[in-house]
Amino acid sequence: LKQIKAGPDDLGLASYDPGFLNTAATRSAITYIDGDKGILEYRGYPIEQLAEKSTYLETAWLLLNGELPTEQQLVDWENDIETHTIVHENLKRLMEGFRYDAHPMGMLISSVAALSTFYPEAKQIRDPAIRLRQIHRLIAKVPTLAAFCYRHSLGLPYNYPRNELGYTENFLAMLFRMTESRFDPDPVLARALDILFILHADHEQNCSTAAMRAIGSSDVDPYSAYAGAAAALYGPLHGGANEAVLRMLESIGDVKNVPGFIERVKNREVLLMGFGHRVYKNYDPRATIIKRTADQVFEVTGRNPLLEIALELEKIALNDEYFVKRKLYPNVDFYSGLIYQSMGLPVSMFPVMFAIPRTAGWLAQWQEMLEDPEQKIARPKQIFTGHARRDYPAERK
Ligand code: ACO
Repeated sequence: LKQIKAGPDDLGLASYDPGFLNTAATRSAITYIDGDKGILEYRGYPIEQLAEKSTYLETAWLLLNGELPTEQQLVDWENDIETHTIVHENLKRLMEGFRYDAHPMGMLISSVAALSTFYPEAKQIRDPAIRLRQIHRLIAKVPTLAAFCYRHSLGLPYNYPRNELGYTENFLAMLFRMTESRFDPDPVLARALDILFILHADHEQNCSTAAMRAIGSSDVDPYSAYAGAAAALYGPLHGGANEAVLRMLESIGDVKNVPGFIERVKNREVLLMGFGHRVYKNYDPRATIIKRTADQVFEVTGRNPLLEIALELEKIALNDEYFVKRKLYPNVDFYSGLIYQSMGLPVSMFPVMFAIPRTAGWLAQWQEMLEDPEQKIARPKQIFTGHARRDYPAERK
């Protein structure tokens, strides 16, 4: 604590906490993490059980509503999402305006921001029915836009949603269907993607969720707040890390180069991407599940050649004093990219693959923030370190 501005206009005490290491900016009943014990729970349910038994859409309902849906509620919810998967044709034209090599995350951020112009009613965020419709739209349309981003970068025609398919099957079909003929996504890959989506659905007050809450606290529409949250996710220290991990593994190139790379990390020349976490000072529980899921995916797609490098990095790091002392373990991003690559996605799509499932978490946190009577517009204090008052030089014209 640092006293600022003592005197008649004293503002009292303020905590100085860059990066919010020890400052709770909100109350939340959605996600619980115990980083020392490696525990992650959504609404009280352990992530391991949800990954085994739930689906992404059921988990999204749970995050938003606090309880698991009844059978009928789940059917209605899935129908509500299906009804909104199509996007306005003009969004295709927006996509076409991007360069062929535009980063898919930039395209996703821009196109979701553009959705606010198609649904001006979304401004009425205090109306629960209108709010719910935007929630349906975002969960439904983000995969469609994400698939458009991928198809655009390959110069391929966009695939329309096929709503007779499940959420992840439909997304795989929008990504990979080459003609109007049938495309039946492999059920193992579809389920693996569903598990990855469950694992990524929420993670309490991470950088992008904090951005969603901070932007949303100005009462802006959810599409604009979402675009800001997705922009925060794009950074390589956050959701962009899965892309950075793959680029790192490719640059290492061979298992024999791993010890040399670890030395560079210890000399602080580079970071070991996909390692370390602000909250987890133990194995990230999501990484354990992802590692298992990767094995199932590789049985269908064949083993990813970069896996050996990843396993060797993990083995050396977990036994090395530098990493042990700093409690650096693999995080959610360390193995997820290997799965996405084996499914046929380019590395630039990886942050997009993170943003799609995080939609549920951002919206649940945004809704909770709006419904909290104590929530105010986000407006952190600062400790001013600049000049005292001074006059503009009289000699300057
Ligand atoms: N490789 C090498 N050293 C690391 C790494 C890493 N990946 N992560 C942290 N360290 C070191 C730091 O250099 C620091 O060492 P020091 O105390 O000797 O200076 C110490 O460990 C503590 O690190 P901080 O940066 O203070 O930890 P913080 O909680 O601020 O950062 C973060 C967490 C940003 C995730 C960091 O671990 C990192 O940059 N990791 C790599 C990027 C990554 O994988 N991000 C994905 C996170 S998960 C997610 O967002 C979904």
